[in-house]
Amino acid sequence: MRTKTYVITGATSGIGAGLIKELAEDNVIFAGYRNQAKAEELSSLGVFPFYIDYAKPETILPAINSIKSKCTKIDTLVNIAGCVVAGPVEKIEMSEIRRQFDVNVFGHLEFTKGLLDILTGGKIINVSSMASYGIFPYISPYCASKKCLDMFFNSLLIENKKNIQVVSIKPGVIATPLWGKSIEENAKYLNSCSDYEREMDFLINNAKKNETSGLSADEVVKVIMKADRAKKPKLSYTVGRDAFAASLISLLPQELLNNIIKLGIKIRMKKSG
Ligand SMILES: NC(=O)c1ccc[n+]([C@@H]2O[C@H](COP(=O)([O-])OP(=O)(O)OC[C@H]3O[C@@H](n4cnc5c(N)ncnc54)[C@H](OP(=O)(O)O)[C@@H]3O)[C@@H](O)[C@H]2O)c1
Repeated sequence: MRTKTYVITGATSGIGAGLIKELAEDNVIFAGYRNQAKAEELSSLGVFPFYIDYAKPETILPAINSIKSKCTKIDTLVNIAGCVVAGPVEKIEMSEIRRQFDVNVFGHLEFTKGLLDILTGGKIINVSSMASYGIFPYISPYCASKKCLDMFFNSLLIENKKNIQVVSIKPGVIATPLWGKSIEENAKYLNSCSDYEREMDFLINNAKKNETSGLSADEVVKVIMKADRAKKPKLSYTVGRDAFAASLISLLPQELLNNIIKLGIKIRMKKSG
């Protein structure tokens, strides 16, 4: 028997694909995709695929309308779609920073706002990141976008009169294709960045390491499921020791924190040669 209705973005890879596997058999699921080939994979799992690309905001309203034409009540919206824009602040083009916010913040906001009337009494679970604690240099667009996502949705939680619960999941490093994609998408900055060559090499090596050494996506899926099942979920869940540690050290005064981060990066860059 189909038990609940879910809308899930970022459903075609990594954490989202893991969540679909967990839920597809027993639930009605609407799942977002960017590439047609992935739509067919989703359909084969018994899921209703809808096209959405947050880097193309004109795709958001048709996605909302397509869901609403088939469904009058959503139990849980899981906002997972995301990408990473990386590089030193002084070098990253503004168009790339805007794309980061379109994909990781504005897309989720516009999409969620369009679905609020059929989410009454339901739940929104956002996959944010430990980057939301804001202590990772050279990926500042990503950090700022996740912090911003959390802020908007926390306000939505406080303000909404539709009895909608909002949860932020903040994973640490998870071994998914996100890291490989980030190297490809940011190649322009990572491969030839005058004045920052050593830092960018460090970033690339770190991303390569993370792609295999991080926790499994299933660990995040478990926490999403826990938050989904909870009658009164926490506002925020960290996943992994690194995320928990980030939550703690983010409480330090900014100046002290900045010095710790600078020293930490210096030591890690020295170790990695
Ligand atoms: N991996 C980590 O270490 C980590 C840690 C903390 C938080 N997170 C967050 O977890 C979420 C899922 O990431 P993941 O690690 O599972 O990475 P992933 O495997 O790359 O999955 C990202 C998902 O988002 C989709 N997506 C990317 N850009 C999009 C766009 N412009 N419009 C719509 N959908 C788009 C991707 O579609 P395609 O399949 O077409 O690429 C994919 O389904 C992200 O929000 C990420 O920030 C990840």
